[in-house]
Amino acid sequence: MIRKVRLEDLEEIMNIERESFPVPWEYSIFFNICIASGKSSLRESRCIFMDVIEKESSIIGYAVWEINSRKREGHILNLAIKSTERKKGQGRLLLSHILNHLRVNNVRACRLEVREHNLPARQLYESSGFKESSKVPSYYFDEDAIIYTLHL
Ligand SMILES: CC(C)(COP(=O)(O)OP(=O)(O)OC[C@H]1O[C@@H](n2cnc3c(N)ncnc32)[C@H](O)[C@@H]1OP(=O)(O)O)[C@@H](O)C(=O)NCCC(=O)NCCS
Repeated sequence: MIRKVRLEDLEEIMNIERESFPVPWEYSIFFNICIASGKSSLRESRCIFMDVIEKESSIIGYAVWEINSRKREGHILNLAIKSTERKKGQGRLLLSHILNHLRVNNVRACRLEVREHNLPARQLYESSGFKESSKVPSYYFDEDAIIYTLHL
């Protein structure tokens, strides 16, 4: 089941975040999105969304994305699946969910950054139609970023 994030999900989310990324997001970032019930408005027509995948009362993945409604652009900011639940189609499910949400909200294009050597993620995005548009040297300090774009 994919649903909006709740405050009580935070501990499980942080466990997945820490096992998934060399430089995990801080607790406070997730906390602020959670207390806004997974939809947090920013300045200049921008809004952040966060949903989780729940399976048998546990969180097994989550995604955070942004919509700039003035520019009609989407930006995937975070997407992770619990290590024991990977390679079962959950990442693709969550990505499709985000892309559907963008389409419903009249978004024209979606972009994201990924570590150059993150092959599982790059495979997921490429097999979902994302095209590599550029490379940003040292974006992650210790690694370059590949920028992907998908026209919706
Ligand atoms: C990237 C990630 C979200 C994929 O989630 P997942 O649930 O394992 O992915 P799925 O099972 O839905 O697989 C979808 C596609 O991704 C690719 N993929 C997933 N795992 C892969 C692996 N280990 N090696 C190569 N390709 C892989 C394949 O193209 C796969 O399609 P296929 O099953 O038809 O071959 C997951 O590996 C993860 O959470 N990684 C750590 C966090 C991360 O890197 N997030 C992305 C940040 S940009």
